[in-house]
Amino acid sequence: MAVILITGANGQLGNEIRSVSGNFYGYDFIFTDIAELDITDSSSTTDFISKNKPDWIVNCAAYNSVDKAETEPDKAILINCTAVKNIAEAIKGSDCRFIHVSTDYVFDGNACIPYNENMLPAPGTEYGKSKLAGEKAAMLHNNSMIIRTSWLYSRHGANFVKTIKSKARKNESLQVVFDQAGTPTWAADLAEAIMKIISSVIRNQVAFNAGIYHYSNEGVCSWYDFAEAIIEEEGLDCRLHPILSKEFTAVAKRPCYSVLDKSKIKETYNLEIPHWRKSLLKCLAQMK
Ligand SMILES: NC(=O)c1ccc[n+]([C@@H]2O[C@H](COP(=O)([O-])OP(=O)(O)OC[C@H]3O[C@@H](n4cnc5c(N)ncnc54)[C@H](OP(=O)(O)O)[C@@H]3O)[C@@H](O)[C@H]2O)c1
Repeated sequence: MAVILITGANGQLGNEIRSVSGNFYGYDFIFTDIAELDITDSSSTTDFISKNKPDWIVNCAAYNSVDKAETEPDKAILINCTAVKNIAEAIKGSDCRFIHVSTDYVFDGNACIPYNENMLPAPGTEYGKSKLAGEKAAMLHNNSMIIRTSWLYSRHGANFVKTIKSKARKNESLQVVFDQAGTPTWAADLAEAIMKIISSVIRNQVAFNAGIYHYSNEGVCSWYDFAEAIIEEEGLDCRLHPILSKEFTAVAKRPCYSVLDKSKIKETYNLEIPHWRKSLLKCLAQMK
């Protein structure tokens, strides 16, 4: 029975993998978060892995505070890079497959066509730099797959959907930036995609192909469009005002454009990806 270890399992993505794992029979899942396995601790990580001998590791643990990372870059590096290196070193040379999750923020956002995996990363934030360093750390192991995703949300944890819902209930009007374009990703869709990849490799339906991949939902929008869709679908009475990024005070400068080209992951692993708006509806229904 294949052993699948999930690290950072109490976050948005980890929780969604936990939910979807019930549909994938015949696997032995081990869900851990910092209390069970602190991946910044190299000897605990090595011990845990040598004791449990996972065939697959999916690392969902991360430091995701984009603004705070500007003032505590060492903490971002510790969780987003050093901890990833600890996992990679512990499985180096073994057959264990490692799926590590990264971000669209590794790009500078100056492109005007969707970013594919061959385009050069140039992160403009400490968070993006720590995630890019983490990708390189994951690659210390030969059987590593890196999945960059964007604008993740779910019923778990803190995210843009929950923030907009809560603010729109309390305020008559809201200002949201309209000059940053990307694609929201429902963590449940990404979790399903990861499990489909794992199960089709185990069942020999596709070959495991290490390397970098991009995954988000389909479509493109601005944060303003995303907020408008949330408010409309929830039937909330709140007026939205589009503003420029320079009118919104944020410590870290986000990419203007970070749409991901998903052709490679769709073709390699035969995935169909839902449009962001359809997935938003499903997530909002789940939150009720
Ligand atoms: N959220 C987004 O918008 C977004 C966008 C693009 C890419 N991503 C990437 O997608 C992946 C999943 O993100 P997510 O939103 O699901 O993250 P999340 O909700 O922040 O979950 C991360 C989990 O990792 C845990 N963790 C932190 N330090 C740890 C450690 N040393 N050992 C073990 N676990 C630890 C966290 O615990 P605490 O909560 O106690 O810290 C949390 O439960 C990450 O790689 C992230 O960088 C996210």
